[in-house]
Amino acid sequence: MVKFPPQLLEQIKDAMPVSRVVGARVPLRKQGHTLVACCPFHKEKSPSFHVNDARHSYHCFGCGAHGDVIRFLTEYEGMSFPEAVERLANEAGIPLPKPREEDRAQAAKMQSQYEVLELATQWFEQQLQGTVGSAAREYLAGRGLSEQTIRTFRLGFAPDARDGVKKHLAAQGVTDAAMLAAGLIGQPEDGRAAYDRFRGRVMFPIENSKGKVIAFGGRILGAGEPKYLNSPETDLFSKSHTLYNLHRARKPAFDAEAIIAVEGYMDVIALAQAGIANAVAPLGTAVTEHQLRMLWQMASEPVICLDGDAAGFKAMARVTELALPMLKPGLSFRFALLPEGDDPDTLVRRLGAGETRALLARAQGLAEMIWYCHTHNKHYDTPEQKAALEETLMQQVALIADRTVQNYYRDFFKSKLWQARRAPGGKGGKSATGGKPSAPLSRRSPQLEALARAGHSDADTGADPVKERLLLATAIAHPALLERADVEEMLVSLPLATAELEPLRRALLDVACEGDAPEHERLVKILKAKGLGAAVQALHSAPEARHIRADTSLEEALAGWSRIVDAYQAEWDSRAKEQKIQELDDVLTEESLSRLRALKANS
Ligand code: UTP
Ligand code: MN
Repeated sequence: MVKFPPQLLEQIKDAMPVSRVVGARVPLRKQGHTLVACCPFHKEKSPSFHVNDARHSYHCFGCGAHGDVIRFLTEYEGMSFPEAVERLANEAGIPLPKPREEDRAQAAKMQSQYEVLELATQWFEQQLQGTVGSAAREYLAGRGLSEQTIRTFRLGFAPDARDGVKKHLAAQGVTDAAMLAAGLIGQPEDGRAAYDRFRGRVMFPIENSKGKVIAFGGRILGAGEPKYLNSPETDLFSKSHTLYNLHRARKPAFDAEAIIAVEGYMDVIALAQAGIANAVAPLGTAVTEHQLRMLWQMASEPVICLDGDAAGFKAMARVTELALPMLKPGLSFRFALLPEGDDPDTLVRRLGAGETRALLARAQGLAEMIWYCHTHNKHYDTPEQKAALEETLMQQVALIADRTVQNYYRDFFKSKLWQARRAPGGKGGKSATGGKPSAPLSRRSPQLEALARAGHSDADTGADPVKERLLLATAIAHPALLERADVEEMLVSLPLATAELEPLRRALLDVACEGDAPEHERLVKILKAKGLGAAVQALHSAPEARHIRADTSLEEALAGWSRIVDAYQAEWDSRAKEQKIQELDDVLTEESLSRLRALKANS
């Protein structure tokens, strides 16, 4: 590719301050001596994106986005490196050296490939509208696509002929070699004439991030194999680096701070026609790490929407394993599993945009999804089964590279395991706090849906600001408690109503992990050293915690602690029971009716 001399790049960076290039696109404001903004590369409410003209760089302390003006343009505007250099040089009035001969030849070759593909796209579009395209038009109409949608996505038709597009392009002066390089024709090994790759198929142009056609997917009309035929990898087209519809979805995604990845072309198109414009799809292959990163450029928690079938479930397991090592604070993925037998295309046509949006909005977090994958329809009643489950989950946690995220995942699963253990029946899937994923369950009743939704609101965790202050204050007054496994478990799974107490909880857990607990005074010193002095002070001056003192006996402290834990437990149990009642309400058979009456009778 084009190589620029390093001095030239330096010259451009000197002439174009980061603040100017970034500031022209993102509102910057002064914070002390630096300029900051809400990071354009991930979703955030307070600015952690810093611009430093002296260092020629920008840096986001939230998502780690980092680079110079050139990098900024490639990431923010989707330009290629040479395009960004050219744009900046132009703005700065710096003349660019003439490209070398081979660079020019390569650029010309790529340019001509774009042109060939554009010619082919137009021809396919015309065929669809002509007499030869009538069956294909009917097929698309049968799938509910409007004229407008067909134009927007530039759908076309490749007639069932050996040399349709080939003949057309040849008449325009395109050589066989150029058609071959563009992936439009195939060359038989035995030396016979080259022939059209796509025959008798509806054509879906695949565009790059700038909207230029780089490949095609061709769908057979009705049944047949393969259902979709795609262009081969070419100079312009790399499957693993492309997302279908990215260039149209980018702006709506950025504006909505949400991007949806679905499985197929038709899913993207049906969603767009229904007004959900921020969807993209990989190209038939399993989603790649690169594609996941592309999604992060548009939203901090892209929603991966998978078909409601066994393949979709499997794909989810694959994506989670791919995603875990990539996680960063604030950056994750969410998952929407569709009802059995649906894909986004059928779903949006069956239920409409409103329901589809609602379903997407209920997408589960990655951690919740992993828990679900490993517990759903599985038993873990015996100690051995529980140990195996814990081991599997901890193996997943170990895949996470970021230490902070890893710690939270470990806590999350520990807490899930603990709650599941204490839940009535001690059985899989349903935690005592009602955290049942809404995942592939959407053909259920509205009540269960509502329950699944509520299962993820704070209101349903049983969090309680007074009780949690009491627990933390007790633990600080009597650090010896931290040596007990049940105390540590309670700390791990404690749902906090006051998020500000989180650092304190973490610090106490750190101490608990060390084994030998320090004396009270020493613990307070440790906490102060971690910058938690004020938090400890505030905790001990809270009215309800004032009677908790370090000089009472450990037995007394433990008794107090247990009373609070029991109160939490009672709350969780009653929620679990409520959930049971709801579920039974939902399937009112004679047998369940009598169980329901029994449950209600003693509640
Ligand atoms: P699906 O089998 O889910 O098909 O493949 P679909 O998108 O629902 O297609 P329709 O609704 O039957 O038309 C999902 C994606 O996998 C790729 C395509 O990119 C498709 O959109 N695929 C599928 C292939 O590349 N080849 C195939 O033979 C099948
Ligand atoms: Mn489909």
